Amino acid sequence: MKKRILTGDRPTGKLHLGHYVGTLKNRVRLQEEFDCFFIIADLHMLTTKYQDLKQVKPNIRDLVLDYLSVGIDPRKCVIYLQSLVPQVTELFTIFSMLVSVPRLQRVPTLKEVMGDLKIETASLGLLSYPVLQAADILMVRANLVPVGKDQASHVELTREVAMRFNSLYKEVFPLPEALIGEIPTLPGIDGKAKMSKSLDNAIYLSDAPKEVREKVMRMYTDPTRLRSTDPGHVEGNPVFIYHEAFNKNEEEVKDLKERYRKGKVGDVEVKERLIEALENFLNPIRTRRGKFEETPDLVEKIILDGSERARQEAQKTLDLAKEAMGLQSLADFRKK
Ligand code: TRP
Repeated sequence: MKKRILTGDRPTGKLHLGHYVGTLKNRVRLQEEFDCFFIIADLHMLTTKYQDLKQVKPNIRDLVLDYLSVGIDPRKCVIYLQSLVPQVTELFTIFSMLVSVPRLQRVPTLKEVMGDLKIETASLGLLSYPVLQAADILMVRANLVPVGKDQASHVELTREVAMRFNSLYKEVFPLPEALIGEIPTLPGIDGKAKMSKSLDNAIYLSDAPKEVREKVMRMYTDPTRLRSTDPGHVEGNPVFIYHEAFNKNEEEVKDLKERYRKGKVGDVEVKERLIEALENFLNPIRTRRGKFEETPDLVEKIILDGSERARQEAQKTLDLAKEAMGLQSLADFRKK
């Protein structure tokens, strides 16, 4: 059987360059060889955002358009909406018996999210976020999970759940592995460690050329360099990290680095070259997005078909799990 992939995003807003290098690039590549499932995790979104939800529908649409515009192809993969596959919440309930509260309290993303969003006490839903994610992943019996580095601890917990289930009952679940992008975390334009919507330091896949230029021009570079004739640092310098990630002209990147180290090129020139590289990368994405945006009902149909397909798979897994546990399924009663 072909290996299975599952990954996805919460519908909290547009995707940015950090998502691209962290996971989207891998997804586009993997859809050629594997059975891929991409989840739009609206239930996960509710763990931190459960009020004033009028943006959710447009966000879901934006997310699908972002997927399509980078080259994710619904003819090769399944794109589905988490809440349209209710089986996942049943599997979640079963898994929640297999994970202790202190184990969940130690998951590093919990502290991060609570810190970032100034949440004082976690709800039951937020605490169990990784268990729901384990249910997503194991629901399709995925082998590989292409995610950004911040999600690795959730995949680890998923493996623990799978091992525990398999050893208690029967071998139902594969042990999935995380697949982290070549550039595990892209820094923000402000030089902070991570590009993120909540830190307001992101360049979006759907940004117009004017926004891209404006953002690159105020991008953080080497803070120790005061004049363009001072020797500069390339390592850890966001502008060069972006060049490495997006500039296909390796010669140019090498040359810019050499001159930067010697104090023979100014920030402005390095940034102009970066804008050009980013435009080369983003232009085809914009063109595809425009085309898909104009196709009526395209997004709705993709989600409807994908969720139908995901429900079939989910029901199969749930039946296998219940049978392994000795729980009775609907089929058991109907036989009598
Ligand atoms: N937690 C992921 C994020 O915020 C989204 C997600 C939900 C996910 N379910 C998943 C990712 C299953 C991978 C696999 O980015």
